[in-house]
Amino acid sequence: MIVCRSKAEIDKLRRVNQLVAEVLAELRRMAAPGVTTADIDRVAEERVRAAGAEPAFKGYHGYPATVCVSANEQVVHGIPSKRPLVEGDILSIDMGARLDGFFGDCAVTVPIGTVSPQASELLRVTEEALFHGIEAVKPGARVSDIGAAIQQHVEAHGFSVVREFVGHGIGTALHEEPQIANYGPGGRGPRLAEGMVLAIEPMVNAGKPAVKVLSDGWTAVTRDGSLSAHFEHAVVVSAEGREILTLLPADAARAAGRALSGAPTEA
Ligand code: CO
Repeated sequence: MIVCRSKAEIDKLRRVNQLVAEVLAELRRMAAPGVTTADIDRVAEERVRAAGAEPAFKGYHGYPATVCVSANEQVVHGIPSKRPLVEGDILSIDMGARLDGFFGDCAVTVPIGTVSPQASELLRVTEEALFHGIEAVKPGARVSDIGAAIQQHVEAHGFSVVREFVGHGIGTALHEEPQIANYGPGGRGPRLAEGMVLAIEPMVNAGKPAVKVLSDGWTAVTRDGSLSAHFEHAVVVSAEGREILTLLPADAARAAGRALSGAPTEA
């Protein structure tokens, strides 16, 4: 069953998702050569707790940290470490929090200093693909329309969509129904309705789609060693279409300005 949230519940989801987006914006600004991913994790946990919220990932199936940090060929679920970032890396930062009983979840992939043209195209296309998926969200659309829009955009640019991990409903649990694949034919699955809240999170590889999990039991990497990027937003289905709960006011103009490359014009 997919839950449709009331206005009061959506207010709470908006609050925690805005908090996650604000912390992520700060983490993104601190990600630079010489900074370690453990430094990023420490700031993340401090900010979340200072806001009266709790990390959502820490302790989830035994995950040990507040953020997932996945560099270069790492796809998702990388564990923070003392390894300093270096110029040219790309770093995915994924964070969830719980506030007042409701969850927020958001991810971005950021360039560390100047990155290769291929890396910057991968980041651009993955974020655009996320916005194409978000644009498919509206009352009456089907869940699989989201993944179909994502896959179409990714493959049109010669990149590939990871199959093993999916987006998800989000609310009073981090992961709720439905699962949202980032690939596959449209027109299938449940119909979307006002009040449903979805975390959409494409993972895109520069090379082949296959991934494997390292011996730490968490870190997923591309099998072929190619670069991988990950962007995630939480959205609520609204009467007009959707509202992006993790979009900060400061970023909304940029998203709208990119309407032609797939960003939503409303929300
Ligand atoms: Co998620």
